[in-house]
Amino acid sequence: MMAGRERDAELEQATNRWIGVGIGLTALFALMFPIYRWYEPAGRADARAELETSLAAQGAVLYQGSCASCHGAQGQGVDAPALNSRQFLEAADDEQIASLIAHGIPGTEMSAYSLDFGGFLTSEQIEALTTYLRSLELDAPDRPDWRFPPEADGHDDSAADEHGDEPADVEAPTEHDDEAPTEHDDESTDTQEEVGVVEESVAFDAAATYASSCARCHGADLSGDTGPDLGATSHSLSEPDEHLAEAITFGRREMPAFVDELTAEEIDQIVAFIRQVQAEP
Ligand code: HEC
Ligand code: HEC
Repeated sequence: MMAGRERDAELEQATNRWIGVGIGLTALFALMFPIYRWYEPAGRADARAELETSLAAQGAVLYQGSCASCHGAQGQGVDAPALNSRQFLEAADDEQIASLIAHGIPGTEMSAYSLDFGGFLTSEQIEALTTYLRSLELDAPDRPDWRFPPEADGHDDSAADEHGDEPADVEAPTEHDDEAPTEHDDESTDTQEEVGVVEESVAFDAAATYASSCARCHGADLSGDTGPDLGATSHSLSEPDEHLAEAITFGRREMPAFVDELTAEEIDQIVAFIRQVQAEP
């Protein structure tokens, strides 16, 4: 009897020990998951930061080679919009910037760079450029007028109108010298060609604004994409102008508001542009 009870006690002790080990192991596995999950994303975030740094470095090289001639070595804008503008970088997300680089802006100097659209950049290179431009946001200067390169500052529309025929009289810059002096006159008399480019960008161009701000959603030919069709057979044909202007000014669900970017007259001109395209056969 005594021996039997002792054996029972021994057995019970052994069993308890194994149960203890079991609980211990279970607890260990249970702990390992959160620990693993805690380490892993940290590792991934590091890897991501590293990838971004190397993409930005790659993008900087591509930028100097392919973009700096028009957009300036620091993205400050020369014959083309300033891309280091805080307002531009806040307004455009990465996808929009990549899309602008890939598709270009039809009818402007900004050509399509994606291999898919006749350019020479792969989608990785476009991502690198986008990452580089995004990296400029850290100390981007205040440039709400980023669409107008520095030389264009101080010009008004009437001056631009008077110069409408400028490129034709390249040999006779006297008319230009008669103008009230502006900073522009001091800076860029080096080439007449440059003068032409600058003045073109001063006059508001509804078609160019449509191409740069609207085409990615409504299609280059207004036939719609993620945004609705605005063309000749669309619903918007039967809507009053004010209704379209209101949608553009204040936005609607997925449609962003342009109240901060465009004046009421500019929006009216875009509506007129839409009407003009709708009227085309
Ligand atoms: C030959 C001159 C030229 C070159 C080279 C050029 N661009 Fe442009 N880019 C322009 C002009 C001009 C515009 C403005 C077009 C318009 O809307 O009237 C523009 C517009 C843009 C915009 C849109 C800016 C905005 O305000 O919406 C981005 C982004 C851009 N370019 C990026 C690039 C990148 C990146 C490269 C190099 C791969 C590049 N560009 C090369 C002339 C150029
Ligand atoms: C990010 C994509 C996006 C951009 C950029 C965008 N739109 Fe839209 N737009 C939409 C969407 C989506 C709608 C439909 C909104 C709704 O009713 O829910 C819309 C609606 C409209 C409407 C109203 C159409 C109707 O029949 O009521 C007009 C007009 C319009 N957009 C013009 C423009 C113009 C002009 C621009 C550029 C200045 C522009 N949009 C830029 C996505 C966009």
